[in-house]
Amino acid sequence: MNNEKNQTGIIGLAAMGANLAMNFADRGFRTAVFNRSPERTEALIGEYGSGKGLDPTYTIETFIASLARPRKIILMVQAGEAVDRVIDSLRPLVDQGDIIVDGGNSFFRDTIRRETSLRQAGIEFVGLGVSGGEEGARRGPSLMFGGSEAAWEALSPYLRAIAAKDFSGEPCVARLGEGGAGHYVKMVHNGIEYSDMQLIAESYSLMKDALRYPNDAIADRFRLWNEGRLESFLIEISERIFRAKEHDGGYVVDRILDSAGSKGTGKWTAEESLELGEPSFSLAASVFARYASAAKERRVRIAEAYPKHAPEKIAFDADDIERALYAAKLLSYAQGYALLAEASKTYGWDLDFAEISRIWQGGCIIRARFLTDMEQLFREHPEGSDMLLSDGVRETLGADLPALRVIVAEATLAGIALPGLSSSLSYFDSMSSALLPANLIQAQRDLFGAHTFRRTEGGPAEHFDWQ
Ligand code: 6PG
Repeated sequence: MNNEKNQTGIIGLAAMGANLAMNFADRGFRTAVFNRSPERTEALIGEYGSGKGLDPTYTIETFIASLARPRKIILMVQAGEAVDRVIDSLRPLVDQGDIIVDGGNSFFRDTIRRETSLRQAGIEFVGLGVSGGEEGARRGPSLMFGGSEAAWEALSPYLRAIAAKDFSGEPCVARLGEGGAGHYVKMVHNGIEYSDMQLIAESYSLMKDALRYPNDAIADRFRLWNEGRLESFLIEISERIFRAKEHDGGYVVDRILDSAGSKGTGKWTAEESLELGEPSFSLAASVFARYASAAKERRVRIAEAYPKHAPEKIAFDADDIERALYAAKLLSYAQGYALLAEASKTYGWDLDFAEISRIWQGGCIIRARFLTDMEQLFREHPEGSDMLLSDGVRETLGADLPALRVIVAEATLAGIALPGLSSSLSYFDSMSSALLPANLIQAQRDLFGAHTFRRTEGGPAEHFDWQ
């Protein structure tokens, strides 16, 4: 390399870090790279080529010394203790004003803790949600920035250059707030991702088990849906998945064990909704659905004890599934945005929902045409009012909820599990009921534990003598 200092540096060269580093170099930024084991650094330079903008370094000291000030250091290491370890190793080497960015899927409370501690030493700390998998990191991810104005000013030219583009051609990156805001929004993105994936999987199950579609007909449906209002990355890859065959002509999807993994961000979203008292039915149900899938052996044993009988007549078709999927997706996003709204109040972030919808339009896993509607909706209602009350959502649900109801009812009769679709419907029915039977729950709580209740006409909490 020449003697010019590097403009930025990346620590951690597993798939995401390596691809992000190549993306920076592609955009013309001189980028130092460092990995604990040098083999990965060598492999990256071998793949990308030397003298093309990536500067391999083999000690943390030379890495730091190679960076222009204020140093911009991006950590792409496994969320958890590894992040603290790397930060500890950087502390004695960095100077006031330097910026450390955590681009992993870190838990937002860890991010807030790290930011607070580094700020005391005059070091900027940014929690950057990075979405889009390896391909996104390489060609343009969606970037959710949480950090100070000063850090944003220093980093935004770089981040805008490497980010994906939204449907208007603008970079999918925004400063969402201080500290943990970026990682929080990324966490909810993943919660919504779980729900989107669960709803699509259930639509597949309805086509396969109720309509008896073969894989190529399912692929055709996904293609059709991807040409309409459901156009999205997850629908697009679903088509590809249903077409993929092995050498012997067998479909790959039919050979994959039906036991879904998870790494924790969906669980955190569900936990946060419990923490903040936000009824995110679908986001939690999607995590439970993965856990139910993972209990494969137990399911097989119970299935033997309760044989299912294939339904004789089905009262819905593939167009109804599209309607049900769209309505349930809308309701699941309503839950995600409601959780963000609650978090924004609780943590004082002033989240901009239109911006969030905009930066999710490109690069990330939940990218979808649908998010342009969300962006517009929140631009018209910047205060983030309940999207269920907007005219557009009311119109859509008016047209599509009947299909969701029929499908949930029919599948229930047939014993087809629909935790995602049915919980979206339960969310809607709960939130659109002026009266719920919780008066009885309050009475029971008061009877057995003197927990008190309030009267419908108002007034203080009181206890009734049930004897
Ligand atoms: C993304 C993804 C990414 C990761 C998921 C997978 O936005 O790029 O969300 O962060 O692939 O977290 O999570 P699970 O392993 O929990 O499904």
